[in-house]
Amino acid sequence: MNIQEISQSAREKLKGYCRVCPECNGRACAGEMPGMGGVGTGAGFKHNVESLAAVKINLRTLHGAKTQATSFKLFGRELAAPILAAPITGVTFNIGGALSEEEWAEVVVQGSLAAGMLAMTGDGPNPVMFRSGLKAIERVRGLGIPVIKPREQDEVYRYMAMAEEAGALGIGMDVDAAGILPMALAGQPVGPKTLSELKDIVAHTSLPFIVKGIMTAAEAEIAVEAGAAAIVVSNHGGRVIDHTPGTAEVLPEIAAKVKGRLAILVDGGVRTGLDVLKMLALGADAVLIGRPLLIAAAGGGHEGVALVLQTLEKELKHAMLMTGCANLAHLRDAIR
Ligand SMILES: Cc1cc2nc3c(=O)[nH]c(=O)nc-3n(C[C@H](O)[C@H](O)[C@H](O)COP(=O)(O)O)c2cc1C
Repeated sequence: MNIQEISQSAREKLKGYCRVCPECNGRACAGEMPGMGGVGTGAGFKHNVESLAAVKINLRTLHGAKTQATSFKLFGRELAAPILAAPITGVTFNIGGALSEEEWAEVVVQGSLAAGMLAMTGDGPNPVMFRSGLKAIERVRGLGIPVIKPREQDEVYRYMAMAEEAGALGIGMDVDAAGILPMALAGQPVGPKTLSELKDIVAHTSLPFIVKGIMTAAEAEIAVEAGAAAIVVSNHGGRVIDHTPGTAEVLPEIAAKVKGRLAILVDGGVRTGLDVLKMLALGADAVLIGRPLLIAAAGGGHEGVALVLQTLEKELKHAMLMTGCANLAHLRDAIR
């Protein structure tokens, strides 16, 4: 199967939920939630893609960077490239059941590992969502990162204990899900976290902790102060509130504040290896890929996920060659 065949198959399987557009940019699906869109006008999703497209590249080919090293270490695990699968749940209502929650988790965890990378898995109102991710991670001896919703403290501790038992490599929390309604409606309240609550959460686990959903330098600083091992600069794919800026827009000021004090991951609109290079040049240590992997999973199963990730790695290498970068430490000069 090649990428075109995977897209074609996904287009048929996702009919009514995702059009599998030539460019996955949030325009056609704006406001479609449940579905694959961004909330409201869809501006947050669109801004992610637009802000990345606005970054221009320095074409440089008079150099000695003849080979490109992309391997990256996260929490002691060496990855083929600084690319991870973003946590996604709710596939039954967001893509109409083309994959079950269990199938999706299995496919994304296995496909990511096959490509030499890693997946994060998510959490949601139906307990099957978190459990499916955890089971898939447990099956590969812990090689994945479960991301917990900002539940009440005692619930967070309980979920973290389950993640530790599964042998997970790290634990995340999508703090930007603080206001999502389906959790409250299902009797599982979520809410914002104070610095002191975040500190207690970090202190409660021996695993590296990731705060996902940071969009300002001030909140990145709070994550550092709480003792987090990483942040994900993210607006949740534009799905939690309308009119947020694009992540590529806020990444430089966040990196200026906290680079080197924790790992900086970023997601939102990353579609090509050139986009990966741009995010790294803007200050990220690694990127997460969301919607394209769900589409790949629907169209091509775990092989589809692996192929999309391997293609991103190849494109990243090509982008490094064309901008004169031999390794990830020298990407700053790749952009204008
Ligand atoms: C259908 C769908 C479900 C998602 N579910 C979760 C989730 O359970 N937990 C989470 O942290 N993020 C969730 N996200 C956000 C992604 O992790 C990620 O931040 C976003 O999709 C990245 O943008 P991209 O899709 O443009 O690559 C979800 C996104 C989508 C599209």
